[in-house]
Amino acid sequence: MKATVRDFKKKSETGYSFPTVTAYDATMASLVELAEIPLILVGDSVGMTQLGFNTTLPVTVEMILHHTQAVRRGAPNTFVVSDMPFGSYHTSVESALKNAIRLIQEGGADAVKLEGGATMAPLIQKMVETGIPVMAHIGLLPQHVITKGGYFLRGKTPEDREILMQDALAVAAAGAFCVVLEGVVPAFAEEITHALKIPTIGIASGPLCDTQIQVLNDLIHLSTKPLPRHARPYCNVAESVLGALKQYHADVKAGTFGKDA
Ligand code: KIV
Repeated sequence: MKATVRDFKKKSETGYSFPTVTAYDATMASLVELAEIPLILVGDSVGMTQLGFNTTLPVTVEMILHHTQAVRRGAPNTFVVSDMPFGSYHTSVESALKNAIRLIQEGGADAVKLEGGATMAPLIQKMVETGIPVMAHIGLLPQHVITKGGYFLRGKTPEDREILMQDALAVAAAGAFCVVLEGVVPAFAEEITHALKIPTIGIASGPLCDTQIQVLNDLIHLSTKPLPRHARPYCNVAESVLGALKQYHADVKAGTFGKDA
């Protein structure tokens, strides 16, 4: 049975820990559903994993919509969260709501995710009041890569830890049903986890969040680039595909391909 936001909010009473992963197309989404992973994020990481961009910044609402629709077709019984791309929730509350509603109405998403802490809390509250469940995302914010000049671990100083804790409390108070902690010093990610009633979903933040999220391409090693340090690939799809393509190449060249047809 498809999980709901109520299931994902349960952490403090039950200790229920739901694994989550990204997916971007129907085939992978259907495999995620077969593995009974109850939540798929159509992340703006699609820009880097599937579309060949160097950052997530070029991803648009139309792109996320296209991939969300594919994921929904592949995984009709899985809770799907659609990532709000850079610029799609920053210019006005009206346009943010309009874009989020499109992801739900046209994309088939069950919820949206957006990056940012205390400054995004009023928008999160407005979305939730409108009927749009929101997954918050604090810590390292990939959409801020230009202003930060790179991707840096968060929570290393007392000042930064104070900011992060305020961010976490603000998004929870605004009504987010869970919060991604990305690139947060593990000991502090644990502290945030204890401070919140909603689940924390860690990525590159150590093992002590309520649960974890991974980019699917990192989990299955589907990349020709080096994987991030925090990745734990459970198989090597890139190697298998490359091996298959080389063998096909060799068979066609040798004139042996097609003999069994
Ligand atoms: O876009 C994405 O895949 C994400 C996850 C890394 C949380 O935001």
